[in-house]
Amino acid sequence: MVEVILFMNSSIVTKIDSSCYNFRVRWLRKLSNNLINVGGVFSWDIGIDLGSTNTLIYIKDRGVVIDEPTMLARPKKKRWTGLSAPKSDLKRPVAYGYKAKLMWNREPRQIEVVSPIKNGLVVDMEGLESLMAYYFKLIYDVPSKYPKIFKPRVIVGVPSFINQVQKRAIKSILIAAGAREVILVEEVVLAAVGLNFPIDEQNGIVVVDVGGGKTEVSVISMGGVVIGKGIKTAGSEIDNAIVNYVKMKYGLLIGPNTAEKVKIGVENNDLVRGRDLETGLPKSIKMTREEVQEAASLELGKIVKLVKSVLDETPPELMEDILKRGVVLVGNGSRMKDLAKMIEMETKICTVLADEPGMAVIRGCGRVVEDVSLLRQIKLVSLG
Ligand SMILES: Nc1ncnc2c1ncn2[C@@H]1O[C@H](COP(=O)(O)OP(=O)(O)OP(=O)(O)O)[C@@H](O)[C@H]1O
Ligand SMILES: [Mg+2]
Repeated sequence: MVEVILFMNSSIVTKIDSSCYNFRVRWLRKLSNNLINVGGVFSWDIGIDLGSTNTLIYIKDRGVVIDEPTMLARPKKKRWTGLSAPKSDLKRPVAYGYKAKLMWNREPRQIEVVSPIKNGLVVDMEGLESLMAYYFKLIYDVPSKYPKIFKPRVIVGVPSFINQVQKRAIKSILIAAGAREVILVEEVVLAAVGLNFPIDEQNGIVVVDVGGGKTEVSVISMGGVVIGKGIKTAGSEIDNAIVNYVKMKYGLLIGPNTAEKVKIGVENNDLVRGRDLETGLPKSIKMTREEVQEAASLELGKIVKLVKSVLDETPPELMEDILKRGVVLVGNGSRMKDLAKMIEMETKICTVLADEPGMAVIRGCGRVVEDVSLLRQIKLVSLG
C-alpha cells in the first residue's frame, strides 16, 4: 500500500515536474520573443543600397554613414595543399571600398581586386560576405542612441529581376555578416520612396535607375512594380565604350578608371593619358565633351529603347498618370549629359533627373528605417 502511494506520489511529482518544466520553457520562449520585439522597437535598424559599383549604408537616427565602392582587394586564390597551405590571416582581404578601388588595375600580381556584385547580381559570395562583415564591424563603432545589444534589422534594396537563389544568397550573406533579420525591397520602389512619391496610391510613375552595372526601368503603382525590365547597359558599359572609342580613334589604350574620369569630366581639360598602341609608349590626347557623348551614344540609345519597351507594355489605365507625373531618372549613371533629353524626345513624356540621383535608393531605405510603418505600404520581395 505504502509502495503504491509512493509510486503514485512519484508519478504525480514527475507529472508536476514535467508540467513545471514545460511551463518554464514556454515562459522563457515568451520572454525571449518579447525581448526580440522590444529589441525591434529599440533596435538600430539599418538600410543598405547594395550596388554593383557603390555600397551605401544608412543607420537609423544617424543617416548615411558608409558610401564606398563595392570592391575589395585580397590575395589571389591558389591551390594550396598540405603544409604549404597558408594560415587564415594570409587569405584575408587587404583593402576594402575606396582603398581597394585605388588598387584596381595597379595591384601587385599576388593581389586581386574584385567587385563581388556584377550587373546587380552576386558573383562572389565569399567576397561579399567579407565586405559586409567589414562594414558591419565599422557601423557597430558608430555612436548611436539605440543600444547595440541586438543585431540590427536590415532593409536592403535588390534589383527586381533577381531570382530566388540570388535573393537567398543576399539574405544569408547579410545574416552571416551580422544581421538579425533581412527585409528585401526592390530598389526602384525604394527610389520612389526616397523621392517622396505617394507610392501607396494607384497613380503610376516611371522610375529609370541607371547604375554602374545595370539599368532598370519600372512602372510603379500601389507600392509595387507593375512592369519592370532590366539590362546590363549602365555606367561600366559606357566606360568600356569610351575605352573602345579612344582605341579606335586615337590608337591609345586607356584603363576603365581613366575612362570613368573622362566620362564624369573630372580629368583636367579632359586630357587623356594612356599607352600608344603603335609605339607602346605613354601618350596623351585631349578629348572633348562631344566626343564623350559620341562614344556613349550607342549605350544611351539602348537605355532609351528600354524605356520605350516598358512604356509599350504598360497597362493603358496607368498612361494618364504617367503622362501627368512623367519619368524620373535615378542612379549616378543617369547623370550622363543629355540622357533625360533623349528619353523625353523619344517618348514625348516629361523626364526629369532626380536631385542627387545616386542617393534616391538609400534615402528610401532611410525613410523606411525611420518609419517602419511604411513597410505596410510597399510590396516586399518574397523569398518564395
Ligand atoms: N557625373 C556623372 N556622370 C555620368 N556618370 C556618372 C557620374 N557620376 C557617377 N557616374 C557613374 O555612375 C555609376 C555608378 O552609379 P550608382 O552608384 O548609382 O551605381 P550602383 O548603385 O552601385 O550600381 P547598380 O545600381 O547598377 O547596381 C558609375 O558607373 C559611375 O561612373
Ligand atoms: Mg544602384
